[in-house]
Amino acid sequence: MPVAIPKNANAEVTAEVGGQANVDTLHRTSRDFRSDTITIPTDAQLLFALQASRGDDVYGEDPSTTALESRIAKLTGKAAALFAVSGTMTNQLSIRTHMKQPPHSIITDWRAHVHKMEAGGIAMFSQATTHQLVPANGIHLTVEDIEPALQLGDNIHIAPTKLICLENTLSGMIFPQDEVVKIGELAKKHDIAMHLDGARIWNAAAAEIEKRGLDASKEEDLQTVLTELCAPFDSASLCLSKGIGAPIGSAIVGTKEFIARAKWFRKAFGGGIRQCGGLSAAADYAITNHFPRLATTHKLAKRLEEGLRELGVDILAPVDTNMVFFNPKSIGLPLDAVMTRAAALPDPIILGRERLVLHHQISPEAIESLIACVAELKKEKEENGELKEAEMTKQAKERVHVFAGREKEETNEADLRKQAALGY
Ligand SMILES: Cc1ncc(COP(=O)(O)O)c(C=O)c1O
Repeated sequence: MPVAIPKNANAEVTAEVGGQANVDTLHRTSRDFRSDTITIPTDAQLLFALQASRGDDVYGEDPSTTALESRIAKLTGKAAALFAVSGTMTNQLSIRTHMKQPPHSIITDWRAHVHKMEAGGIAMFSQATTHQLVPANGIHLTVEDIEPALQLGDNIHIAPTKLICLENTLSGMIFPQDEVVKIGELAKKHDIAMHLDGARIWNAAAAEIEKRGLDASKEEDLQTVLTELCAPFDSASLCLSKGIGAPIGSAIVGTKEFIARAKWFRKAFGGGIRQCGGLSAAADYAITNHFPRLATTHKLAKRLEEGLRELGVDILAPVDTNMVFFNPKSIGLPLDAVMTRAAALPDPIILGRERLVLHHQISPEAIESLIACVAELKKEKEENGELKEAEMTKQAKERVHVFAGREKEETNEADLRKQAALGY
């Protein structure tokens, strides 16, 4: 069944305040499935940011940033937090802070963002090697996967395991907490640290709040759930600029000593921000006002899954939160044809290949249009045995450009693929 969402003034951009161009951008954003990084700051969020403190945070003199860090530390049950520009930076700072002296190694899932999508940062900054494991169950790592892979002892051929990095959610899938706890116990037994890439821990928290019937707009409820999710970890990185829609930012949480040391590395990475208050306030606003919207985002993802499944489209991974991986080949439709047709709609929809990502500004209309678009292609194929438009036409390419707000220019399939990959 289609999902209806009541209008929410906190998530709006108006022509009077934000200007018509930004109203139009919000509309395009509400139909853009490439990534949950593609959200736009709202009027209310930026007006809130306008009132933030304007001190120098490198001197520790910006109350809005200090307040955000204290709030996130408290929410996650850790002693301290540190704001930085991106999830890549907070992951790499955390890893650098854990890793003391080579030879040393890190265990990750083979799909983990920390080693696959962070430009080789682990080798560059921490001089560590990663042991990438393939989960036997295909979904998440378990103690049974990790225990035999631990590098313990003093065999000089082997770099000892000093850190286990887990990702929650991974491709939108929630890591079962009982398994995380077991992995944490194993790590503790061997004096190995645990780091969480919680870029989307907000989604896992929103799903847990929903499951327990708690209230996502209550600070105490969010604190209860986030504290539990982060408890097995020595450090965690929580992105603020993904599903909850801060314009920039990510936070590390950990002990006071860990955060003090990470701050030192943040300086060395050139990542100290001077007048940081406006950024922190926009993120603070996102936690208060956008986090409670994630449960609806997840309902929309379920609706998309349901609509696609009803058409016979293969869904490639469990839809626990805000991502739907689909394969239209199961109904004879090439993925490119679906992307092209969606981009060529009078009110275009943009897709990041088989990974569809939802965020708090994706609209119910976009979900229904996408399902209808696939249904129409399927019907065409059934009726004609052929698709009218299986190739990326020149006109469709131009639409994608206009849609993405870029100058009109020639593009090709390879460019579009690259853009989709970078949308992670
Ligand atoms: C799981 C995960 N971790 C970390 C990051 C890095 O975040 P950022 O793009 O802010 O550097 C991403 C980015 O998409 C991500 O998906």
